[in-house]
Amino acid sequence: MSMRCAIFASGGGSNFQALIDKRNSGELHAELVLLISNNSSAGAFEQANRQGIKSIHLAPSHFETEIQYTEKLLSILESDRIDLIILAGYMKKLPIEVINRYRNRVVNIHPGLLPAFGGKGMYGSRVHEAVIAYGAKISGITIHFVDEEYDHGPIISQVTVPVFDNDDPHTLAQRVLEVEHDNFWKAVEAISEGRICVDGRRVIGNV
Ligand code: GRF
Repeated sequence: MSMRCAIFASGGGSNFQALIDKRNSGELHAELVLLISNNSSAGAFEQANRQGIKSIHLAPSHFETEIQYTEKLLSILESDRIDLIILAGYMKKLPIEVINRYRNRVVNIHPGLLPAFGGKGMYGSRVHEAVIAYGAKISGITIHFVDEEYDHGPIISQVTVPVFDNDDPHTLAQRVLEVEHDNFWKAVEAISEGRICVDGRRVIGNV
């Protein structure tokens, strides 16, 4: 049976759109049940509306305490029978209770090759700036399960792209984003189909 997914997105939502496209073309069999965003002006809301995907604006700042926020989040995930959480450009850290409840069922995509160029504060164009400044010759994407540390959980897949002499953060970001769109759905599909399993830090199986 295919997994029921909740997508968390804070921004443009191009990865969310790429997942929608793969679902609509019949290549991705996981169900895209729910969008959650902390940002009321996230582009992802429009995409969800167009597709008839339920969406919820939910942010820690809506609650007096972190506990109330966590309880609400867990109750939403439970009532929609969510199996898998997909972080697609989500800028908030998930509460530890959610990570524990969904251990190895929260997946994130990072626009760099972890463990380099990752960690707290390393997101978006900062990653590409750092890659270029360091003089790295390759960059790429890392799709990984989420644990309690930033950009740290078991790696599901990595794909590289070249860094060219004349790259700036923008041109590199474009090349990386294209690879994100081509590959994120494959990891989601592999999880959803039960094709991979986690053994310590190692994710075994074919994506
Ligand atoms: C992507 O680069 C992804 O790697 C990172 O956030 C960005 C989201 O882009 N986690 P988009 O909102 O999907 O266009």
